Amino acid sequence: MSDGHSPTAALCAPDPLVRRLRDAGCVFAEDEATILRRSATDADQLENLCARRVSGEPLEHVVGWVSFGRLRLDVGAGVFVPRQRSLLLARITVTAARARPAPIVLEAFAGVAPIAASVRRSVPHAEVHAAEVDAVAAGYARRNLGADAGVYCGAGFTAVDESLRGRVDVVAAVPPYVPTTAADLLPREALEHEPADALFAGVLGLDHIRWLIDQSHEWLAEDGVVVIEMNRSQCATAAEHASRAGFGVRRHHGGDGHTAVLALRNGQAHQSAQS
Ligand SMILES: C[S@@+](CC[C@H](N)C(=O)[O-])C[C@H]1O[C@@H](n2cnc3c(N)ncnc32)[C@H](O)[C@@H]1O
Repeated sequence: MSDGHSPTAALCAPDPLVRRLRDAGCVFAEDEATILRRSATDADQLENLCARRVSGEPLEHVVGWVSFGRLRLDVGAGVFVPRQRSLLLARITVTAARARPAPIVLEAFAGVAPIAASVRRSVPHAEVHAAEVDAVAAGYARRNLGADAGVYCGAGFTAVDESLRGRVDVVAAVPPYVPTTAADLLPREALEHEPADALFAGVLGLDHIRWLIDQSHEWLAEDGVVVIEMNRSQCATAAEHASRAGFGVRRHHGGDGHTAVLALRNGQAHQSAQS
């Protein structure tokens, strides 16, 4: 019979924070408990953070940051949290930027600007810009990119500095691409805590992707590229649209079986490849 003080009892005694998180449905309760403890400065704050998480707020909103590759990006309530699957797009964008002597890179639909921030870190000589419609997200993008990057708050390219027209080497984007018909496939956390405008893009999820393909020409340098994340099921339709718009198309598939990136090269229609 245990007296409750033996070493075995201590090992088995559940951490109350872990138990609370697990009871609330947090799958990685141990990891989350560690992150919450590290983020809180005292017991009252820990209680506050834990209560927010248990009520269903995304962990990243609660603690105010997200890991993205080797970056730690600021995020907060009401903005889209960068997904790990977008590291594929970040890698492709960095590779495209590195191939140029003085690259100009613009992240469109930037949110808190994870792709632009990845370029800033890995290609220090790149000129980096980000465009985003939501003022709160644009504020985080400014913090994540620092003072020497251009951050433009407005729909599409409306607020982007005119001097960039025809000069951008790489336009990179994770536009909203969830079909409105697929809302029930999203986790509750996303539906309740991220803005619908950051997630959905029409019945097929292709509205913003098509728009970006059509509008990018004006902003790209002669041999510029547009790299766009989407779901693999959307690739064929988007690639067809891009070919008709005069782009050469290359597909990249993520290891998760869902994520894809189309790389579209200006002025090279009718070339197609897969990786
Ligand atoms: C799927 S999120 C991606 C954000 C960021 N690129 C990332 O990966 O974390 C899409 C972003 O596009 C923004 N957005 C939606 N419609 C837009 C528009 N018409 N013009 C500019 N940005 C828009 C949303 O506010 C949101 O931040």
